[in-house]
Amino acid sequence: MANERTLSIIKPDAVAKNAIGEIISRFEKAGLKVVAAKMIRLSEENAGGFYAEHKERPFFGALVDFMTSGPVVVQVLEGEDAIAKNRDLMGATNPKDAEAGTIRADFAETIDANAVHGSDSVESAEREIAYFFGNDEICPR
Ligand code: TYD
Ligand code: MG
Repeated sequence: MANERTLSIIKPDAVAKNAIGEIISRFEKAGLKVVAAKMIRLSEENAGGFYAEHKERPFFGALVDFMTSGPVVVQVLEGEDAIAKNRDLMGATNPKDAEAGTIRADFAETIDANAVHGSDSVESAEREIAYFFGNDEICPR
């Protein structure tokens, strides 16, 4: 197992539900440490650039609209196997398929507003962390 970092976003639907604390608590209880965090309102350009890999997908426009619809909390999580651990805590992309007890099962109803984002590989984690944070904004511990 490797000590890893991953990018997590608490999406506008979960922020609107006042679930920031409950979601971060799940990361911490699972042994992941928050080493960077900020609340921001994404611009269209920001959200589109972040999800550039999905630019040609039919849901891209709706995804950008949703991600810019309210503030998000962006954080870097650090720990053993952080990337896969976070994906396990999140549950399946479609909350209807998400295992009971996962964040998406508990806080989301539909695939287009599914509470959280998490990097899916070492390469995407590196890109996504650098997209939102400078090195001086990350506090290893
Ligand atoms: P994706 O990277 O496939 O999922 P994940 O967030 O689990 O890594 O897709 C990015 C986001 O795009 C997803 O969280 C919600 C949205 N999306 C849709 O709205 N409809 C879809 O059919 C898919 C696949 C994703
Ligand atoms: Mg993804």
